[in-house]
Amino acid sequence: MENEFEKLRADILQCRKCHLWQSRHHVIFGEGHPHAGVFIIGEAPGRDEDLNGRPFIGKSGQLLDKILFACGFSRQEHVFISNIVRCRPPDNRVPTTEEAAICLPWLMRQIELVDPKILVFLGATALKHMAGPEHRITRERGQWMFWQERWAMPVYHPAALLRDPGLKRDTWEDFKKIVAKYRELVNPGHLAPHC
Ligand code: URA
Ligand code: URA
Repeated sequence: MENEFEKLRADILQCRKCHLWQSRHHVIFGEGHPHAGVFIIGEAPGRDEDLNGRPFIGKSGQLLDKILFACGFSRQEHVFISNIVRCRPPDNRVPTTEEAAICLPWLMRQIELVDPKILVFLGATALKHMAGPEHRITRERGQWMFWQERWAMPVYHPAALLRDPGLKRDTWEDFKKIVAKYRELVNPGHLAPHC
């Protein structure tokens, strides 16, 4: 199993299936526990991630880490963080439908190997490509959905929280539901400093 994960990493790091490889510095494989209970799906790497090879390390990532900390979650132990696409789209534009479709099989394989109990769709792009283009983050955030026999929760992207801090209150309620589900499905004794 660990070998499968390392083989997948090696394959992903060499990917040239779409044209984004031409402008990338790094492929961002993803980061976290290989058998995490919670699998978080963002949009795409930005500039900081492209330069460093790790997901969510810029401003959005710092906010995400604060939220995870409040939930008692760490990247080392409880979550795996990935994205809809694994290479930075130029100028941080939203990935195209074609780029997302080409990269999606990598994400599916990661989910299969990590085998999480809970998926978190972080923002409109993740929700759209995982659940379908008709889904709306503003309407569906905070509501559990079933995605291929797993529990999935759409929540606002941390970049949206940075643009509009008024959304943080709702997001906190959503993450409390995620912690409650984690206690139900993964570890009843899970400790969280703030919920
Ligand atoms: N925003 C994302 O959606 N993903 C990252 O990895 C970084 C910022
Ligand atoms: N718009 C987005 O693109 N993402 C969100 O999470 C919320 C609004």
